Amino acid sequence: MATTGHAVELAGLRHVFAGRGRGRRAVHGVEAVKGVDLTVEPGEFVSIVGPSGCGKSTILKMIAGLLRPAEGAVRVWGEPVTGPRRDIGIALQDATLLPWRDVMSNCLFPVELHGKVTAEARERVTGLLERAGLAGFESRRPKELSGGMRQRVAICRALADDPRLLLLDEPFGSLDALTREQMNIDLNRIWRESGKTAILITHGIDEAVLLSTRVVILSERPGTVVEVVTPPFPKARTKELMATPEFAEVCGRIRDRLFASEQRVGG
Ligand SMILES: Nc1ncnc2c1ncn2[C@@H]1O[C@H](COP(=O)(O)OP(=O)(O)OP(=O)(O)O)[C@@H](O)[C@H]1O
Ligand SMILES: [Mg+2]
Repeated sequence: MATTGHAVELAGLRHVFAGRGRGRRAVHGVEAVKGVDLTVEPGEFVSIVGPSGCGKSTILKMIAGLLRPAEGAVRVWGEPVTGPRRDIGIALQDATLLPWRDVMSNCLFPVELHGKVTAEARERVTGLLERAGLAGFESRRPKELSGGMRQRVAICRALADDPRLLLLDEPFGSLDALTREQMNIDLNRIWRESGKTAILITHGIDEAVLLSTRVVILSERPGTVVEVVTPPFPKARTKELMATPEFAEVCGRIRDRLFASEQRVGG
């Protein structure tokens, strides 16, 4: 297996969702993304921001091997992606937990899919649940959890098989502000300590700047990369960083860029 070079390479990526039906009831095809070029280096934390419906989830699904691009190439660790891979952990935007399984066995599901559940995997999941504030809930079913707790379980599940590449699609959407901030700081620590490569989709500009080595800004649909911003901060991020003028400056720059591209399309 190729282990050198880039973690992820997207070249000339385009995707069109086909239309269906005919006449008045026809549903037109949608060009979701177009001409997306992006390279992510091993150990990077890259966030993708952009207007709703611009193709962010579509891009993530193509990286994960869940969707085949209409045009262009996707490579992970130097290999063309042809389907789901064991070394990719993913938390999809509409990630659902299996209702009949408890928290622990939901988290162990990807491990089971890939082989046998080892004591090491069980231990890893126990540690992840603890760090996510879910200790003591291992035997609960999803319906016995809050929405935010379910999201945290989905993140633990994405990390359960110790993937080299972590793909997160708006994983903190339904968390309250305080929990979200705490999860951000935890995720930053997990990322630094594990040396994993991560790609995060978020609507939170603060969150993107707080967590990332680079923030990729997409245009309106069909989404394409309009700018890449590199927050000039050390890898270890703290809550205090968010109160600095430098942090506000980077967030402001991203906000202006997003606003400018929306204005152009709207006007
Ligand atoms: N399975 C699908 N079938 C048809 N069209 C789809 C499908 N999935 C997404 N689309 C369309 O592709 C476009 C991009 O969708 P996508 O989910 O990638 O957007 P997004 O940037 O993730 O948006 P959001 O921020 O709201 O999650 C949208 O116009 C959407 O309607
Ligand atoms: Mg999405």
